[in-house]
Amino acid sequence: MLLDNLDNTSDVVASRIEQITGTPVALVVGDAADDEVVGAAFAEHGPFEAIIHFAAHKAVGESTQKPLEYYANNLDSTFALLRVGLANGIRSFVFSSTGTVYSNPADLPFRETGTRDLVELSNPYSKSKLINEVILADVQKVNPELNVTLLRYFNPVGAHESGLIGEDPQGIPNNLMPFVARVAVGSLPEINVFGDDYDTPDGTGLRDYIHVVDLAEGHVAALEKAQPGLASYNLGTGRPVSVLELIASFEKAVGRELPKVIAPRRPGDMAATYCDPAKAESELGWKARFGIDDMTSSVWNWQQKNPRGYAS
Ligand code: WQD
Repeated sequence: MLLDNLDNTSDVVASRIEQITGTPVALVVGDAADDEVVGAAFAEHGPFEAIIHFAAHKAVGESTQKPLEYYANNLDSTFALLRVGLANGIRSFVFSSTGTVYSNPADLPFRETGTRDLVELSNPYSKSKLINEVILADVQKVNPELNVTLLRYFNPVGAHESGLIGEDPQGIPNNLMPFVARVAVGSLPEINVFGDDYDTPDGTGLRDYIHVVDLAEGHVAALEKAQPGLASYNLGTGRPVSVLELIASFEKAVGRELPKVIAPRRPGDMAATYCDPAKAESELGWKARFGIDDMTSSVWNWQQKNPRGYAS
């Protein structure tokens, strides 16, 4: 069952998932931070063994402008899902966390033991995710039979190979991949490269992009391997890719150059962030399968088939 307030997606997704999987998908439209909404969903569609908690605001820049909305939404949803889930006997709680909880660039490539110092984090989004991790660890301590798995995503990008589902951010995309896709499809004029004077091989920012299908399979592996206790895993490729490399890969998929300009650095951006994914491989038997060319070509396929996203 999907529970979503649809404030950053479309109800079309549920029917497209049914098209892809051939199995019915129940969609409950409502706020995951509301105990009554979550309780009603359990009553109607339960019982459930597990909750995968994705429900959060996630734009780093926006979170610096709206701290109260970010802490309220990203924490209240966890409280409601935990209260109702535990009252209904769930055995697993998989949490969508982030590689932006790692606070010390000297720890690169980030392992799960990397420093996570709240006061060093630069934005309310990342802090809300780290606070969630602390809450979940303490709740698990008093529910020893519960599995809590913290999945720390690096940069999720890409679309399903069918082109039926993909990323469709509202308004002008903050993130690089959907912005490039909008330029490629002609709905935005040019790509702004936020700085080419970083201490990286080509001067542009390095990130650990991971295909969203690899990310989904990481969740399935976490559920299948779940044992009572607390576990955390990085979900990334361990292979950093620069802004210019991502754009070059997208241009290969499109078959032509895309208009781009070098723009000033974006405040708060790190030069490089990427992980060491070895723990997920050894403990979950999971390893990212796709490279950047698979990611960009899947996005181009999605965007071409849905030039206006789900409103197409
Ligand atoms: C990537 C690179 C920019 C836009 C995101 C999410 C965050 C977290 C991690 C989940 C950087 C450059 C970007 C543009 C550019 N996800 N860039 N022009 O900042 O790593 O964070 O992934 O937890 O929630 O926000 O991703 O795609 O915004 O930036 O040059 O128009 O692309 O400087 O080097 P980021 P991003």
